[in-house]
Amino acid sequence: MPRIIGTLPLLGRLLRQFQMSGGLGPRFSREFDMILVTGGAGFIGSNFVLDWLAQSDEPVINLDALTYAGNLRNLVSLEGDARHVFVKGDICDRALIDQLLTTHRPRAIVHFAAESHVDRSIHGPGEFIKTNVEGTFTLLEAARAFWNTLQGDEKTAFRFHHVSTDEVYGSLKPTDPPFAETNPFEPNSPYSASKAASDHLVRAWHHTYGLPVVTTNCSNNYGPYHFPEKLIPLMIVNALAGKPLPVYGDGQQIRDWLYVKDHCSAIRAVLAGGRLGETYNIGGWNEKANIDIVKTVCALLDELKPDAAGPYSRLITYVTDRPGHDRRYAIDARKVERELGWRPAETFETGIRKTVEWYLANAEWVAEVQSGAYKDWVSTNYAARS
Ligand code: NAD
Ligand code: DAU
Repeated sequence: MPRIIGTLPLLGRLLRQFQMSGGLGPRFSREFDMILVTGGAGFIGSNFVLDWLAQSDEPVINLDALTYAGNLRNLVSLEGDARHVFVKGDICDRALIDQLLTTHRPRAIVHFAAESHVDRSIHGPGEFIKTNVEGTFTLLEAARAFWNTLQGDEKTAFRFHHVSTDEVYGSLKPTDPPFAETNPFEPNSPYSASKAASDHLVRAWHHTYGLPVVTTNCSNNYGPYHFPEKLIPLMIVNALAGKPLPVYGDGQQIRDWLYVKDHCSAIRAVLAGGRLGETYNIGGWNEKANIDIVKTVCALLDELKPDAAGPYSRLITYVTDRPGHDRRYAIDARKVERELGWRPAETFETGIRKTVEWYLANAEWVAEVQSGAYKDWVSTNYAARS
């Protein structure tokens, strides 16, 4: 049975029944809309839920399987908040999703849940196919069945927002223009192939069944609650522990970095105003080589928490490269800027400073996520790298 926290299900159902019986005028009834978020205990999903509820009172049903990447600690500030209903469950569980949709009747599904780490996909691709492909398929089918029961304004307003990645486009050469929405899909890792497959399913469910979908393809995020298996948080926590900072290959691979809260604001903008069936690339025009990211993190730590043993950059260690490592990602974000007026609030300089400060201020969160299975992953991924 899923674990349900919060008091909203009954309240939501009663309010919705009241709305549907025509008891409230249309303007008033919109106050009782709600959204279903999948993967809302992960890095981006939890930032999205926190931001959403900081900006509106529209309740969130948060469906998350709590894999190694899901962490209810991220949402501790919402404890006792009736606007947040957490449900522990799997997006592959059709019966559960049907039940959530018919009980809560959300006006939108914002779909974050995924296996998200490229290195893990190389070690074990099966979970990626299961969650990212089969899970998205299950969610689409449930959404389609639910949407078919809707009528009038409720049907017109419904949205399925699929959160995806720039990695579906493959790898750029140094002089290539950034990825536009029209670029062909050329995924290179099991992770990006599974995300590309899910993007294709979402597209097909719109074209074949008319399901009202929007998709966002975002570049690399960073910020609070980022699990320290990914580059930036790994470098921060390793540096603070005096451990090597493992840079894959020559460290000259380029990623395009976006502060996570800017990704959240872009999703809100696309959910509100994105054209149906369209994809929107999201990015902050912040291309950086990995080695420069690592040096920036070291310099900020030198300033904010100097180490008596010397500059943190002494810990930089070049290690065996990631197989099939994409050389460069870069996002052309002009479509979302032009159509929806979205702009990131942070520059890379302000965002990375906030991020390092957050990790320094949240040592308990870091210690907790590094316990248990995290250690096994570190040894699986790094022991064989010389
Ligand atoms: P994450 O790994 O931090 O979180 C994923 C969440 O999904 C976790 O809470 C996990 O418990 C949950 N989950 C996994 N399998 C599930 C299942 N079968 N059923 C229900 N819940 C499940 O990932 P993230 O970095 O927050 O990424 C979120 C989404 O954004 C993903 O779809 C990812 O592809 C996409 N994305 C990420 C980035 C990035 O830089 N992190 C950039 C662009 C797009
Ligand atoms: O581009 C968007 C994608 O960004 C998202 O879709 C993924 O979910 C997210 O994980 C991220 O993928 P990357 O593979 O780019 O992120 P990661 O943090 O794993 O690695 C960033 C770069 O740093 C990459 O070139 C590999 C390198 N790296 C990573 C680790 C973990 C290292 O050099 N050393 C490391 O230890």
